[in-house]
Amino acid sequence: MATDFTEETAADAVIDSLAPSTSPRLREILTSLVRHLHAFTREVELTIPEWEKAIDFLTRVGQKCDADRQEFILLSDVLGESMLVETVNNRKFGVATESTVLGPFHVVESPVLELGANIDRVGTGMPCVVTGRVVSTDGAPLPGATIDVWQASDQGFYDVQQPDRQPRGNGRGLFTADLEGRFWFRTIVPTYYPIPTDGPVGELLIATGRHAFRPAHIHFIVTAPGHRDLTTHIFVAGSEYIESDTVFAVKKSLVVDFDLVESEDLAKRFSVPVPFRHADFEVIMQPTS
Ligand code: BEZ
Ligand code: FE
Repeated sequence: MATDFTEETAADAVIDSLAPSTSPRLREILTSLVRHLHAFTREVELTIPEWEKAIDFLTRVGQKCDADRQEFILLSDVLGESMLVETVNNRKFGVATESTVLGPFHVVESPVLELGANIDRVGTGMPCVVTGRVVSTDGAPLPGATIDVWQASDQGFYDVQQPDRQPRGNGRGLFTADLEGRFWFRTIVPTYYPIPTDGPVGELLIATGRHAFRPAHIHFIVTAPGHRDLTTHIFVAGSEYIESDTVFAVKKSLVVDFDLVESEDLAKRFSVPVPFRHADFEVIMQPTS
């Protein structure tokens, strides 16, 4: 005799339908997902029009995706899910530098550049020098570490968002640390910017009275042999939206002062005009074992 469908037995019925051959991890994930999803539906007493609206929303999220646009990741970002996954998978390890989201704009390979090169190819914005050192958790320098950086322009756009206004590769560089693990490059001070809002995720932000902005930041992916790859940002201290990043990616340890420098000597040393801003960032990498 067929079992009767009830609110209470629904989740078990779905979970019992999983074949014994289902992989243990898939079973674990689906079991938890179905239990939480059914509990959510009972808790909010989801109406049929609301369910239809949700299906329509998710359909349009999918339709907005293409090779350059990932609306599902954007949805995950504004719901705090991307940051939660990132944080669960990169729990803080002692003194190691904290990670944060990759974001959708690491879409082209960064140009390989010499230490000290300028990643800004447009020439507007406040000149800025970023210096830093890559070390292991015991303080040992990591010569040869690679530092992949990318940032938005002073107008708040990545090169890939403005192919007719910015040269490809603007705001990007791939550097190799020197024998003491040091790196330095020139750029412009980044600005805050909005995430793309011309899709269903933008509608969700409007419907919930949320702004779309991220505080000013520079992205980093740092790699060193024998250490876990690190995906992170430095955030400009005092930037607008530092307390309300729309993708929840700010960690206090990643907020860095971009100091105003008026010294002619320092400007000469880094080949920048005065005044300029200077940010220094020590990257502490976590050994793999
Ligand atoms: C970014 O910082 O590039 C970014 C991260 C999440 C969503 C949109 C943009
Ligand atoms: Fe960004």
